[in-house]
Amino acid sequence: MKIAIGSDHVGSELKPVIMEHLQSKGHDLHDFGAYSAESTDYPIYGIQVAEAVAKGEYDLGILICGTGIGISLAANKVKGIRACTCSEPYSAQMARRHNNANVLCFGARVVGSELAKMIVDAWLEAEYEGGRHARRVQEIMDYESGIWRPEDGIPENYL
Ligand code: RB5
Repeated sequence: MKIAIGSDHVGSELKPVIMEHLQSKGHDLHDFGAYSAESTDYPIYGIQVAEAVAKGEYDLGILICGTGIGISLAANKVKGIRACTCSEPYSAQMARRHNNANVLCFGARVVGSELAKMIVDAWLEAEYEGGRHARRVQEIMDYESGIWRPEDGIPENYL
């Protein structure tokens, strides 16, 4: 898989560990920074990675900040992005199977490196199930595009 990865300063030490782990499994990674522990702002990296994934330049994105929350909020502002913060493998697996998350986020102050490896593995090894989940994901994307609202209810022409 072609994966875009980014972090703020808090995630800058965990990021190379995750990169090495994924590269050893044959994934192709591009690091969008931050490249040091010097204080910076997570929206810079969250939005750059999210835009690259939304444009189709990468299959998926991985983002790391202190909690995984700020950087996911930033990534989710990019149209077409479904970024999920996961602190354990079950949620990471389900984020892909049910929510078709195209960006995975986690916190370097929340998970250790071994747990982070399990989280990325669970996410990458899972497959989107589509079916009834596709309709729900589509509602989110259509709301984002301004063509669906909750009061419209469940659209009949969806899966
Ligand atoms: C930086 O101190 C911290 O706020 C950031 O890494 C992240 O956790 C924000 O959500």
